[in-house]
Amino acid sequence: MESKIKSLNDKLAKAYLGGGETRIKKQHEKKKLTARERINYLLDDHSFEEIGALVTHRTKDFGMDKQVFYGDGVITGYGTIQQRLVYVFAQDFTVFGGSLSETHAEKICKIMDLALKVGAPLIGLNDSGGARIQEGVRSLGGYADIFYKNVQASGVIPQISGIMGPCAGGAVYSPAMTDFTLMVEDSSYMFVTGPNVVKTVTNEEVTSEELGGASTHATKSGVAHKTSTNDVACLEDIKTLLSYLPQSNKETTAQLPYTLSNEIRESLSSIIPDNANKPYDMHEVISGIIDDNSFYEIHKDYAENIIVGFARLGGRSIGIVANQPLFLAGVLDVNSSKKAARFVRFCDCFNIPLLVLEDVPGFLPGTDQEWNGIIVHGAKLLYALSEATVPRITVITRKAYGGAYDVMNSKHIGADLNYAWPSAEIAVMGAKGAAEIIFKRDIQSAENPEEKWKEKEAEYADLFANPYSAAERGFIDEVILPKHTRRKLIKAFASLEKKEMNLPKRKHGNIPL
Ligand code: HXC
Repeated sequence: MESKIKSLNDKLAKAYLGGGETRIKKQHEKKKLTARERINYLLDDHSFEEIGALVTHRTKDFGMDKQVFYGDGVITGYGTIQQRLVYVFAQDFTVFGGSLSETHAEKICKIMDLALKVGAPLIGLNDSGGARIQEGVRSLGGYADIFYKNVQASGVIPQISGIMGPCAGGAVYSPAMTDFTLMVEDSSYMFVTGPNVVKTVTNEEVTSEELGGASTHATKSGVAHKTSTNDVACLEDIKTLLSYLPQSNKETTAQLPYTLSNEIRESLSSIIPDNANKPYDMHEVISGIIDDNSFYEIHKDYAENIIVGFARLGGRSIGIVANQPLFLAGVLDVNSSKKAARFVRFCDCFNIPLLVLEDVPGFLPGTDQEWNGIIVHGAKLLYALSEATVPRITVITRKAYGGAYDVMNSKHIGADLNYAWPSAEIAVMGAKGAAEIIFKRDIQSAENPEEKWKEKEAEYADLFANPYSAAERGFIDEVILPKHTRRKLIKAFASLEKKEMNLPKRKHGNIPL
């Protein structure tokens, strides 16, 4: 009896430790933590409860019956982060390269089901060579089961993916369907087909890092929402991200303790340059408005002409979408529209109020944009904001021109409160271009056309390059001094806290994807 208990205890110890010493060493040599270390770092001390530690694969082919590891290459379970319940899986690269077998997939699906049932976030730490080659279609089926559950969970519980090693082939589609993908620099990569296949099919020579490394996806493709220098930084980033989110779509975010004081922010008064064509950094406006150091930027290095991210205002989470005059003068283009639309939809799913800071000269003109579908991509942002039912507030800091005025959370598409700084210019187009078109004949027939043009430009600017015509019509609710913005917004968001919208019944809308 005693020896039986000992053997069972050995079995359990092996299962819960996960990975032999050599395998752990190999992982450390690659500057990566093991799956268990990652989970332990991510979760509150001693909070992890493992599920399915004794699961093994069922394959006999290719001598697999002689290679059986408890857990089958993935650790799954639940625990807490800052005392909040989360479900988590971490793929264990030391077991068959973290490859996904039928049972590995079943373990992930089990915790996805639990997370969905109880309404708690799901965090997946990916480090895997993809489909378990020895299992063929059973593994592909396992992936599809996960994809399907990703979609069922979408908009119900937050889903976060940490990419902490390889993530290749169809495996990339699970992270792609989660809400946020965070990648570790230099040790992770994601691609549908790897460099060898690329070489065979297109004759292109490219490294894994160039093709799908963290920097590529953070700057070129937009697949990565954030990158981190190493595993620990990535896990910290996941924890911080989570702190801005509710547990599920049934909840709102926690209100941190906050007492309203005078809230005047003088620093906001001197940000807008005297010359309307000079850029400034919208980050300064953001930090002038929000609670100290509370901005968590998403997609920081992608489509930098628009800024999106979470912040706290008076202790409550908000989502911010802001044009960035420092890049491309803050125009809307294909990538910035997609980036902002996706973010808006996330916030709307999870009851996070939206603040739009607007300084936009319009949509970016040109064949590149038109041929790449700026019409349909711009429409994504227009659609996403129009359908959002969370509290929505806009502050126009400077330019609000053309169709971009409508798109950037105008009153007309359902914004609740719209403010403008005195420096706001709200018009169909810039004064120079407008004067050239509507006073064409006057200018041409003038003795000094150049002078006439300037005169007409000034006339147009006087009439429209300000917030007052819009305020007269009620399109702007109030023209406010920059220094009062923070106080105004704290009160305005508080007033909208109980906002309710009853929408017509439908299966779902048809966002121009
Ligand atoms: C089974 C795998 C495996 C896999 C790796 N291993 N990938 N076992 N199925 N998919 C095993 C290796 O045999 C090795 O076992 C151990 O994991 C570590 O792998 P190494 O190659 O030694 O590690 P490394 O040099 O770091 O290279 C990592 C790697 C490489 C780049 C991921 O292993 C690789 O290219 N693997 C195959 C990737 C792939 O083509 N997967 C299928 C993609 S298609 P030992 O016993 O030697 O330690 C796909 C379809 C999904 O995933 C479709 C969903 C719809």
